[in-house]
Amino acid sequence: MSEKVVLAYSGGLDTSVAIKWLAEKYNLKVITLTVDIGNVPDLEAIRQKALKVGAIKALVVEAKETFIKSFVFPALQADAIYEGQYPLATALGRPLIARLLVETAKKEKARVVAHGCTGKGNDQVRIDVSVAALAPELKVIAPAREWKMTREQTIKYAQSHKIPVPITKASPYSIDENLWGRSIECGVLEDTWNEPPEDVFLWTKSPEKTPARPAYLEIDFNKGIPVSLDGRKLEPVALVQKVHSLTGKHGVGRIDHVENRLVGIKSREIYEAPAAVVLLKAHQALEDLVLTKGQLRFKARVAAEYADLIYNGLWFTGMRQDLAAYVESTQRYVTGTIRVKLFKGNCQIVGRKSPYSLYDYSLATYDKGDAFDQSASLGFIHIWGLPVRTQTRVQPEPPE
Ligand code: ARG
Repeated sequence: MSEKVVLAYSGGLDTSVAIKWLAEKYNLKVITLTVDIGNVPDLEAIRQKALKVGAIKALVVEAKETFIKSFVFPALQADAIYEGQYPLATALGRPLIARLLVETAKKEKARVVAHGCTGKGNDQVRIDVSVAALAPELKVIAPAREWKMTREQTIKYAQSHKIPVPITKASPYSIDENLWGRSIECGVLEDTWNEPPEDVFLWTKSPEKTPARPAYLEIDFNKGIPVSLDGRKLEPVALVQKVHSLTGKHGVGRIDHVENRLVGIKSREIYEAPAAVVLLKAHQALEDLVLTKGQLRFKARVAAEYADLIYNGLWFTGMRQDLAAYVESTQRYVTGTIRVKLFKGNCQIVGRKSPYSLYDYSLATYDKGDAFDQSASLGFIHIWGLPVRTQTRVQPEPPE
């Protein structure tokens, strides 16, 4: 009797071909698993397609809330942005997909899982390593890493196996999307000199076509988690979706990044992440208000480390757990309101307030009510400059 495999299924060409290929090459019975983290417009159509192509069972899992609460918001609290640009949407989705693959394999008594990642990207690493962390006994097969077919050959394979290939000219891009952002690569984007054509963007308007007037948005955070917009409480998924639609129409959230992949390749990716860009910026602005200089400096180092770890597929590790505990602790007083101005592709922070603000008006003001004792600066400067004066005294050649 042939064994079962649980295949992460997007409904696209590659994973559809994988259904047949796994059956032919490995004699496996394929159970597809489609995970909805804000990327699947029509779950039922995808399910039907999987069954039509030959899956013995087609499962769908709605995981939007888990994605936002357990993966996106911890990354937001950490200010995790890869190489200063990429808010990590795709990278955050992979460990969740891997976890659901593992859970499904256990339920279905399958000893093999499969996914559609190729052999030159980061995503294969993220899924394989996450599965290894959660269920090392499972075998992972990545058909597209093994079959060595070009896109044309894949289409031929599909046609000869009666797998529906979209009749419209397939998108020249490779796209991955979820609630936190869209990642777009391939086609003309592979030439780093080419400006991204307008047709790569779906969620953000070109700044040339955005409203002539700015829009303002107030975001309330509670312990580093965004909880309401313009005073209205919203559940996590609804909040992210709402920020997305309010900001994308002002052209905010386009990112053009030449990034360093884990496998050693530099690649050029375009990201559209309006909600991520705005929420990360607002969150950082609130931290600027409530954390001390020392906390901010150290947390920025942790943020870079945390972003690398997410990018590099190490979500399910002790290291992430430890960093998460630190980040969680830093969020105790990250409560307050940030006001952003959205205009022509820009998101500007124009207002911030918090009951825990360390900004002290009476210390900062140059007006009436100044409580800062300027005469005390003299003594401070005397001590601060002491090593400088000592050096000049002992090593008389003036430093350049
Ligand atoms: N470069 C991004 C990452 O490694 C996205 C990868 C998937 N991109 C795509 N267009 N399919 O996280």
